[in-house]
Amino acid sequence: MDLHQIDQFAKGIIVEAGRRIRESFTYDMVVETKSDANDLVTNIDRETETFFIEKIKQFNSQHKVLGEEGMGEEIDSLEGPVWIIDPIDGTMNFVKQHRHFMISIGFFIDGVGKLGYIFDVMREDLFSAIEGEGAWYNDTPLRKLKPITIEEAVVGINASWVIPNKKVNHEKIIELVRKVRGTRSYGSAAMEIAFVVSGKLDAYISMRLSPWDIAGGTIIAKEVGAIATNLSGSDSNLLLNDTFIIANPSIHQLILDNYIEVK
Ligand code: IPD
Ligand code: CA
Ligand code: CA
Ligand code: CA
Repeated sequence: MDLHQIDQFAKGIIVEAGRRIRESFTYDMVVETKSDANDLVTNIDRETETFFIEKIKQFNSQHKVLGEEGMGEEIDSLEGPVWIIDPIDGTMNFVKQHRHFMISIGFFIDGVGKLGYIFDVMREDLFSAIEGEGAWYNDTPLRKLKPITIEEAVVGINASWVIPNKKVNHEKIIELVRKVRGTRSYGSAAMEIAFVVSGKLDAYISMRLSPWDIAGGTIIAKEVGAIATNLSGSDSNLLLNDTFIIANPSIHQLILDNYIEVK
């Protein structure tokens, strides 16, 4: 399989999907809720996912596609070539702010990440990677992350984890918030991952993400030396929801050891 050919194909459909999403602001968006009132989906999320699936199946009908909105197939194994797609990551930002949302895509062969993409639709900025060859921010190569201390770190974290919750000891998270230089919360996991791989954030922590939130990002992470695991320090499972941390390698284990106490 020629990865460069697949890479060119992927970039083409991502740019095209981005153009279609931007145009969608000129016609009516239908917003629905899924599991709860904060879990939104729009007709544009579904149309974008369908667009990707149709294009991929035309490109190679043997490729499987797992997408957040369920427009693809049910997948219970990562055998063979598999695309994992989040058509719009940050749907709430998309609906409310019309910005700060990403297309996130990972391409895997037999469970090994080969190509990763995170596309900032409104800025038309693409973070991408080819396994073993490197990562890029548009046409500029991304450098390996430089060592950093915890006191210098800026960490992406959702404010809800510093209040009592069922997942982690929130007192420890408060200690982390006090220790680091600053925290940020962007409302798109893929954007926060893109910021870590490009050194604009030094870590991003989440208590619950799905495979499509992290699939593209974990592939880019490897190329710049960022470490992405679940909060127990194991590799993320790409078929299930899990906790998640991606961090500069100099603070990944330190954060897990000192500030994360999973209940
Ligand atoms: C969500 C965003 C959000 C994260 C949620 C995700 P969606 O993805 O990435 O930042 O906190 O856990 O579900 O639903 O907008 O694709
Ligand atoms: Ca969603
Ligand atoms: Ca998502
Ligand atoms: Ca989504």
